Order: sequence, then structure tokens, then C-alpha cells
Amino acid sequence: MKTEGRPHGRDDMQKKPTEAEKFVNQLTLEEQVSLLSGEDFWSLPAIPRLGVGKLRVTDGPNGARGGGSLVGGVKSAAFPVGIALGATWDAALVEEVGASLAEEVKSKGAHVLLAPTVNIHRSVTNGRNFECYSEDPELSAALAVAYIRGLQGKGVAATIKHFAGNESEIERTTMDSVVDERSLREVYLRPFEAAVKEGGTWAVMSSYNRLNGTYTAENGWLLTHVLRGDWGFDGTVMSDWFGSRSTAPTVNAGLDIEMPGPPRDRGAALVAAVEAGEVGRDTVRKRALNVLGLMERTGALLDQRPHQERADDRPETRELIRRAGAAGMVLLKNDGMLPLSEPRGTIAVIGPNAQVAQIMGGGSAQLNPHYAVSPWDGLVARLGGERLVHEQGCTNHRWEPLWTGDLTVEFFAGRDFGAAPAHVEPMNAATAFWIPPIAGGKVQADSFAARISGAYTPEQSGTHRFGVTAAGYARLYVDGSLVADAWEGWTKGRTFFEEGCDEVVGEAVLEAGRPVEVVVEFTSKRADNLRFSAIRVGVGRPLSDADIARAAEAAARAETALVFVGRSGEWDTEGSDLEGIALPGRQDELVAAVLKANPRTVVVLQTGGPVELPWMVDAPAILQAWYPGQECGNAIADVLFGDAEPGGRLPQTFPRRWSDNPTWSQDPEVYPGSGGKVRYEEGVFIGYRHYDRFGLEPLFPFGHGLGYTSFALSDLDVIERRGGARATVKVINTGKRRGSTVVQLYVGDLEASVPRPMKELKAFAKIALDPGETRELTFDLAPRAFAFFDQGAGCWRIEEGTFELHAGFSATDLRQSAAISTPPDTLPL
Ligand code: BGC
Repeated sequence: MKTEGRPHGRDDMQKKPTEAEKFVNQLTLEEQVSLLSGEDFWSLPAIPRLGVGKLRVTDGPNGARGGGSLVGGVKSAAFPVGIALGATWDAALVEEVGASLAEEVKSKGAHVLLAPTVNIHRSVTNGRNFECYSEDPELSAALAVAYIRGLQGKGVAATIKHFAGNESEIERTTMDSVVDERSLREVYLRPFEAAVKEGGTWAVMSSYNRLNGTYTAENGWLLTHVLRGDWGFDGTVMSDWFGSRSTAPTVNAGLDIEMPGPPRDRGAALVAAVEAGEVGRDTVRKRALNVLGLMERTGALLDQRPHQERADDRPETRELIRRAGAAGMVLLKNDGMLPLSEPRGTIAVIGPNAQVAQIMGGGSAQLNPHYAVSPWDGLVARLGGERLVHEQGCTNHRWEPLWTGDLTVEFFAGRDFGAAPAHVEPMNAATAFWIPPIAGGKVQADSFAARISGAYTPEQSGTHRFGVTAAGYARLYVDGSLVADAWEGWTKGRTFFEEGCDEVVGEAVLEAGRPVEVVVEFTSKRADNLRFSAIRVGVGRPLSDADIARAAEAAARAETALVFVGRSGEWDTEGSDLEGIALPGRQDELVAAVLKANPRTVVVLQTGGPVELPWMVDAPAILQAWYPGQECGNAIADVLFGDAEPGGRLPQTFPRRWSDNPTWSQDPEVYPGSGGKVRYEEGVFIGYRHYDRFGLEPLFPFGHGLGYTSFALSDLDVIERRGGARATVKVINTGKRRGSTVVQLYVGDLEASVPRPMKELKAFAKIALDPGETRELTFDLAPRAFAFFDQGAGCWRIEEGTFELHAGFSATDLRQSAAISTPPDTLPL
């Protein structure tokens, strides 16, 4: 895919398991079965009789969180999220990230990383877009391959996920994604195919959803026919957490491991299914062999070291994260304001994300970072604090700000508070994600109560809002009065992976400096599907017109204003899609007010995907910084002051308005889904292919991003080669600074007999040049670059005719074109 970099075939990644064979034959049926499901949330059982070690897994993808719960836990390095890596368009850098993540996984005593996430940005509102690379299958494929090579090159397994058709979060554990085979093969399966064929991935995670009627965890077409048959996968398939729903059907379809444990569908139930003849002994052996193979590849097979988790905060990891963060930042617009020169006056640092480090998204990708540098901290480190003034202006939270302080949590056995607590511990933030063992194992996961208590001292007088979300029943008291009740009348909402309620909010009028006693009572409830309990409690003071006015005044007085707006992991999260792509809260009003007060304003966006920007024409500079990991504020300051260039290019189109996006439809079945089905009606016309098809002008096109220098292309030349083509093109740095750009090569079939996109990305290269330097790039396109999937014939087909190749700097900035005729051909799967 890339023209530069180490050629890296599959063979050098694939340590063929050999020991596994010897072991599998020594295992009893029960022992083989024991390897086919987790023992607990993050590991498989060991088999001490034979010295077989314990395979440990960890999430993934923007770090290695380690065992335990989703929140808290041993600290880890937080890397840029998927879309930020997608925006780097830099396979070599992503391979470096993968290699560094391998060290992180090892520091947590694990062998397998549950990553990368490569579902395609189908809709702009998918809650998990932040975790995935791109709307484009080839960009996603290239980066996934690089990530896997980095990781597995150091002996840690990748688990590419979620296979397949998990492009939205609504009813995600039951939804049926209805997708035609051509769209699957050309778009949604493509990163997985590359991960197997080019990346040699050792593991794959099935998704929660059904695909064309059958749960992916029991979908034989997907897990066996396509994955192992067509692509030659020889690794291990595990379910998403609680995503296995049956015994014989999953085992027979090709699912090796049910996660997490203890087993729900396997264990004794699988032994019984074998005895009843529903599952063959050979099938069990084959699945166990796959698991032992994964253990052998990762060194878990004979790993007898005591389990240990370390926080490994390395300088070289900090450096890589900072560099990768800047390399993914996309300068959307610049009327010459950036890079900023050293300020002479003051800088007004405004917005809800200014003093909060938005480093990652929500859900299972979250971790406990070593540290998190906010934009404010990054600017103070770069400039000193004297020149900086801060105004928040407005809020952008989805839930009330997390309640923190010296809190206590008491646990009770059973669902009431009658007896003495079974366990008491301190808590510093009122959020918990409880999976067994809870309270040191002193209470049962499916039947316990907890009471969180502590003082809250408001900084200002006035109405305060207290909010509770819970996967369980909860109620909140302030000085003994019930303020928020998520107990009576609890209803299922869109929090905690669809196991929690929506936030229940109550108000109390408080006095500045006078502490109040807050008590939250919680009891576990029966889970719908994902078995855990969770709670989050927040408290905040609503901001008003006066706060926006104060921010505008600060901007007016300053030499320059920097406005930090966007979303957070509360919005960009697993388990719930967005309800629109406007900036939440009053942020658009805030930006407009600041721009009016001071035209020298830079807007820094942090979101996990596209947003509408109604004030775009008035803003002289807009930088999209995504969620760049723990070095967030430092990487942003590097880019703002030109210490680093904004290296990113959009991996997803920004539409002018939400209704322009590919999944917008009058028919709810197309999106968000209805009656349990979501129909991918747009077929292969996803992302820029959709905007091309309908002639819609995007706000910012796919592939777009400015740097601090300029580039030109010339001399595109294409010749036929081995049934594909070789394209060469010259790129020159026409500006005054060294800088990088991404040259993008698109292919269009001008005479297709089936509907095909006007153009499709087939190759790209990120290169850095000195001022005035020219480089000739060579792209070798395999025959597949010209083919479409012929659903009727079940093969890839190249039609006779003329193809057009375009080289450019974005999907709408095509600088050079050339045509080529290819002979017709069919290609195997
Ligand atoms: C997510 C997976 C994740 C798993 C374990 C699931 O909710 O979909 O991506 O790896 O949990 O945390």
C-alpha cells in the first residue's frame, strides 16, 4: 500500500504453532473444553497438570488497560485513539505505535491486545467512530496491518475487531446488520481480510450483532467459510464480551473462545453437547488447538510467571504519543493565523475543553492514564502562565461533571443496607464499574448493595444539578433529602453499554463554601445481557449567558483567543450513538461570540468524528485535534506554535450538515435501525463515494488537511503491470518550510457495467520534503485495485475498459489524472 517502508510479508509474522499439537493430544475432553471459554473477565484457565499457562488478554486499542475494572486500575500509557491514528495516514508511525503497545501489554502481564478496532465509519453518529480508523476500507486496512505488525513483531497478539457489521451501537447486542455480500467484501470485510492476508493477525473478535440474520458468533459463513476458507486464517476467534449466545452453534460455526468467563454457554454445557452428539470431538479438539496455538505464539503456553501489573511510564512512550498526536491533528482551515508567533500580549484560553484533557473516548477503550495534559497545561508548559487567561464560557458535558473528593463506599451482602457492611473502602471519584470479584470477593456480583457517601462543597452559590446513571438501581440524597431517583421507575437508557439508565438529574440550591452531605444508595439488578454493575454520580453548576459574555470580554481584551470546544468520551463512546453532529450545549454560541469579540481566534476541536460548524466562515483557523492521548495539551501546543506541523488528513468526510451523510434516510431501517434490523441500503456508496454519487459538496472532504507549507504534483504516469498498474507521480514542496503531505491515488472505472463509485482510494503515501525538494513516488496497484466483487459469480471481476487514476491531496483536490485500459479478468477470493 505504501511506497516506502519495510516490506513485511505474512511469513515473517507467523510463528507456526508446533508445541500446541503435542499438548492438545494430552488433554482430556474436559480440559480441551476448559480452554474454550474464559475463567474470568480477562483470562483463560491454566492447566497445571501439564504446565499449561494462563492466557491473559487486555483492552485495547489506545493502550493496554490491564485486568480489573474499566475504571481505575493500574496506570497505563494513553495513545491517540483510532480516528486520530487514522488521520495520520502513516503506516510506519502506526507500526511504531503497535510495537510500543506491545510493551504496554507486557507491563500488564498480558499476551493479547483486544485491538485494533476496524469497523467502518458508516454513519457520522456512530458512538464508536472514534475507536475506528476511517470511512475508507483501504486506509483502514493499511493501518490495521501496520498496527498488527508492530504488535505481533514483539510477540503480542492482535485481536482485530469487531467481525463484522458492527457499525453502530444502537441495540448492538441484538441488531441484525443486513448487508449485501458485495458491500461486505468491498468495504466492511476489507480491513479484516488485509489483517489476515497481509498482517497475519493471530486473533479475531466476533461482534455482538447478527449479520444477515445470524449472530456473528455463530455465523459459519463468516467465521469459517470466509475467514478460514477464503482468506486462510489459522489463528483464534473469540467472542465479544457476552457475545456468545449458544453452545453447539457457536462451536460448530468456528468460534474458538467464549468470553468472558466463567463460562455461560460452554464448560459443562459443551461437554454435554459433545456427549449428545451436537458437537464433534474433533471440532472441540480443533478449537482447543487454535487456542493452544495462540498461547504458543504469544508465549503464554509455558508462561508460569506470577501475574503482575506494572505502571510503565517511559520517556520514549511519552515522546511517541506526543509525536503521533501531532501527526494526526488536521488543520481544517488556516487564513494565515497558524502557526502562532510568540505572543506579545495575552492569550485568552476559552472553552469547556481548555482546562480538561480530553484524551480518549468512552467505553471499553478507556483506561487509567499515567497523566493527562490539558490544553491549558500544554500552553503553560510552552509559554508560562503569565500571558494566559482562562474562561470556560459554557459546558459540553452529557452528564453532570463527575463528583470527586474524599468519598467512602460501603458494600453490603444482599440487596439491602440492613446488616453491617461487608467491606468498606475509600473512593476518590464517584464512578465504578463492578465486575467480580467485587469488594475483594466479599459480596456476590448479582446480589449486593453499595453506599457511596461524602461531602460536597460548592465553590459558588446557586442551583446545582446532581446526576446519577446506573446499571443497577440508585438514589441520591443531599443532606438527607432525596434529590435524584434512579431506583423507582428505573428505565433502560443509553449508558453503560445499554445496561444503564439515562442520567436522572435533580437540583439543590447550595451556598458557596458550605459543605453538604451526599449519600448514594445502589443495589445490583439483573443484567439484560452484559453481566456487571456500574454507577456514576455527577454534580455541577449550570453556566449561563453571563459566562459566555465573560469569555467574549476576555477574548476582546486579548491579543489572541484560543477556543477549545468539542465533545468528550461521554459522547464518543461505545454503547450509544450520537443524536446529531452539532457541538453539544452552547458551544456554537460561545465560538460565535468569541469570533465576534476577537477575529484573531483559533478554534481547536476535539471530537471523535465530524461536527457541523455554523461559524466556519468567520473562523480564521480551525484545528481538529481528536482525542490524542495523554500528551494532548503538549501536542496541541506543538502544532499551534509550529514546533510540529499538523500532520493529519481527514479519515472521514465532514458533511456540511448531518442530513448529507450517507446513512441519512427517511427509512429508519437504514439508520438507526428498526424492528431489530439495520439495512446497509447505500451499499458500497459510503463516505466520499456517497458525496461523489450525489454531487454533495462536503464541508471538508475526505483526505483534506493543511500543513504549514505547500505542495504540487506533476507528471502522473501510469503503465499496465502484471494485470494491475504502476503509477508514478512527482511531488514538490513549493513552500518555505519542511513539511509532510499525503499523496492519494484514486481509481475510477469509467465503463463499469455495475454501479461503482466515481473513484476509490487505492494507494497513498505520506512523505516529508524540504523546501524546493522533489520526489518521485511509485505506486504499484495489484489487479484487485481495479476489480469489483461480482456477487453472482462469487469472485472479483475486472471488466474490460478504461480506468481513470487521479492523484491528489484530498477526495476533491485531485491534481493529476491519467487513463489506463486493462484486460478483463477474474480474481480468486
Ligand atoms: C467491547 C470490546 C471489548 C470488550 C472487553 C466489549 O464491550 O465491544 O471491544 O474488547 O468489551 O472489554
